Amino acid sequence: MLKRLLYRGYTNGLKIAAYMLPFPKPTLFSGPGSINDLCEAIAGLGFKRLLLVTDEGLVRIGIAEQVKENAQAFGLDVCVFSEVKPDPTYDQVENGLAAYLDWECDAILALGGGSAMDCGKVIAAKVTNKRAIKKLAGLFRVWRTPAPLFVIPTTSGTGSEVTIVAVVSDPDTHLKTPLIDPKLVPLMAALDAKLLIGLPAKITADTGIDALTHAVEAYVSRNATQETRAYSLAAIKLIFQYLPQVVEQGSDVEARHKMLMASYYAGLAFTKASLGYVHAFAHNLGAKYGLPHGMANGIALLPVLRFSLPEIEPQLKALSEALSVHGESEPSAQDLLNRIEALYQAIGFEKTSDVIQSADTEELATLILKEAHWNYPVPKFMDGLECTQLLAEMRS
Ligand SMILES: [Fe+2]
Repeated sequence: MLKRLLYRGYTNGLKIAAYMLPFPKPTLFSGPGSINDLCEAIAGLGFKRLLLVTDEGLVRIGIAEQVKENAQAFGLDVCVFSEVKPDPTYDQVENGLAAYLDWECDAILALGGGSAMDCGKVIAAKVTNKRAIKKLAGLFRVWRTPAPLFVIPTTSGTGSEVTIVAVVSDPDTHLKTPLIDPKLVPLMAALDAKLLIGLPAKITADTGIDALTHAVEAYVSRNATQETRAYSLAAIKLIFQYLPQVVEQGSDVEARHKMLMASYYAGLAFTKASLGYVHAFAHNLGAKYGLPHGMANGIALLPVLRFSLPEIEPQLKALSEALSVHGESEPSAQDLLNRIEALYQAIGFEKTSDVIQSADTEELATLILKEAHWNYPVPKFMDGLECTQLLAEMRS
């Protein structure tokens, strides 16, 4: 009981901080072809040499070269750093920092999904904060303004283009260590749907479910405000409408654009309202079994929402009402859960996973509860037994 009061006190403190602190938003260029506008703006600000932080996949399919040519057309010199892997580690950040210094860059352009953007954020922080990454991890520990950072997301899910968070992994412990600081928000971002048309359906589905989870967890968070709920709702509406379409037909640029906006809105919601148990499950299932982040979120989302009833019933009911998912009858929380189930079916999303081992559930539960209780303003507390029961539900 005392512990729970302590957790509540801590997350209430976070709410006050989120209310008091300025949360910068990146200058946004959106629409097909907006990478040109971004590159023109970077050149207009007087920068000369960019470190393009990306991954080998984007180099292979020519997207990194396309962005490089766009930047060069505006007189920018571009050095490509393509060592980013999923769940970037401290080593990748250090290598990126060395490349930035060796090539005498004056700004960073991160191109990719959450991993590339997060890696770019931490490299930018390390340029000006000469401390070990471990010392930068945690709340508000990026003391000096990072190197100028610009981003181009190539998935629609993470919302990293607008959030105050960057997650990097400790290669020794394999634990994911979040850096949380408003200084990590990029200066500018381009949401260019044309870059996403080749994204495979599976990654499109997983990342879309990540965005949905951001929006829903932010909506039911105890730290939600009228503003963050409006962003959550905007994101959820777009995801229900356009995610099946982009999974079915990845070349639909208009639908891709809507999903990029959904991910951006969900990012705006959770960067202030925070997340919840679903992400604690996802981070730990990802670390233990290598489950992709969006997939792990999708597995945990419905069990956690069902567990959190009735505390979140009014919020889910309000969402049902706003989304008009209740048909002729009175809106209910269950309507929303049914709608999420229907979305999973429409995109072929598996609700359970066979990689979760019953022998691991106790250890996992300890890690999940530790992460959740010290970070997220969860609407209803869970104990170890309840957590292992939910893990059992997630196993197939
Ligand atoms: Fe996420």
